[in-house]
Amino acid sequence: MSHVSVCGLTRRFDGNPPTVAVADLDLEIEDGEFLVLLGPSGCGKTTTLRCLAGLESPGAGTIRLGDSVVFDHASKIDLPPNRRFIGMVFQSYALWPHMTVRKNICYPLKARKMKEALASGQVERTAGLVDCQDLLDRYPSQLSGGQQQRVALARGLVAQPDLVLFDEPLSNLDARLRDQVRAELHELHQRKPFTAVFVTHDQSEALALGDRMAIMRSGAIEQLGSPREVFEEPATEYVAAFTGMSNRIVAHFTDGVWKSGTDEVLGAALRPPHAAGDAVVRVRPDDARLATGPDALAPHEAGLPVVVADVEFGGRHLDVTVQTGGGLRLSVRADIRRSDDFLGALGRGDRVVFAFDTEAARYFDASEGSHHVAEPASVGVIA
Ligand SMILES: Nc1ncnc2c1ncn2[C@@H]1O[C@H](COP(=O)(O)OP(=O)(O)OP(=O)(O)O)[C@@H](O)[C@H]1O
Ligand SMILES: [Mg+2]
Repeated sequence: MSHVSVCGLTRRFDGNPPTVAVADLDLEIEDGEFLVLLGPSGCGKTTTLRCLAGLESPGAGTIRLGDSVVFDHASKIDLPPNRRFIGMVFQSYALWPHMTVRKNICYPLKARKMKEALASGQVERTAGLVDCQDLLDRYPSQLSGGQQQRVALARGLVAQPDLVLFDEPLSNLDARLRDQVRAELHELHQRKPFTAVFVTHDQSEALALGDRMAIMRSGAIEQLGSPREVFEEPATEYVAAFTGMSNRIVAHFTDGVWKSGTDEVLGAALRPPHAAGDAVVRVRPDDARLATGPDALAPHEAGLPVVVADVEFGGRHLDVTVQTGGGLRLSVRADIRRSDDFLGALGRGDRVVFAFDTEAARYFDASEGSHHVAEPASVGVIA
């Protein structure tokens, strides 16, 4: 039996227009599993967490936590938040400003009257886990953002709840601190697994932290799998777009050749499962490269003639934006150390070939029509 079981969960909001924030959602989470919910703004991530915590009243469905049913619409079971043994960590830390760090961390133990845990040094132990044992007598205003977030983590974990919910807890931290706290959280979970649902719209966070990740779309789960599975084999174009395959080429096969608009696809033939009609090809910027011309394509590579529109220096890589004759903009992340010398002199207006391995590309039906997906700003920057 899985640890958390969600079945047919639905939460509608009245309004103009009405919203189905969570739509018939099913989810099973194993004991000790770290599950990440990833999806764009408004897809229902926070509402799902709030339903689990008992802060929303869903219009349908069942939620089971361990052996107990905490919500069942049909039989009108709806345990209030304080009767569900759940820890929460929010984006905004939500520490009590008038309490010291020690009192903040103690709070869930006191609220649950866990006297034994209080007496046995559980607060100090948990503070030690997240490296804030030296901060216990300070107030939140005397802490940095990263320290406050670590205190919030300790408060979410201290009571060793059945389930810990995280709602974008790292998104208020600057990039360096975000990486640091993320690594600490990952290590902590590896050392002492706890069951968690972690919400984010940052794909690199999802890949790094999740035992499994669920890609959400319009209140339902579009794909659920290990980060590696989802990253390598996105089930739909929506998932591909949301996990960094930001280059989208619509190709059609006519008279024995593949074309994108009026541009002929050079080199190797594309390999969609159905080689008829239109195919949408998705390519990661770091799976593409720039070639000097059609002759420089490798046997498995296809290419499109392009003009360089912009070159950004990124330290060990270049982010190059190119444009086809038909106006399609594509991006390439080129590793400077492994790239051909000509990249060093690359500049706006240069004519090159956008090249990609036809096996590393992923193919989707043009009819799926998910190119309207708003792609996250960080698309293509998975390190
Ligand atoms: N109290 C509410 N009343 C009406 N609509 C709501 C309410 N709360 C959420 N919604 C709507 O439900 C949908 C899902 O919202 P939710 O906050 O769960 O999204 P999210 O995935 O957490 O987004 P974000 O990444 O921006 O935090 C949105 O369309 C939102 O406008
Ligand atoms: Mg949210």
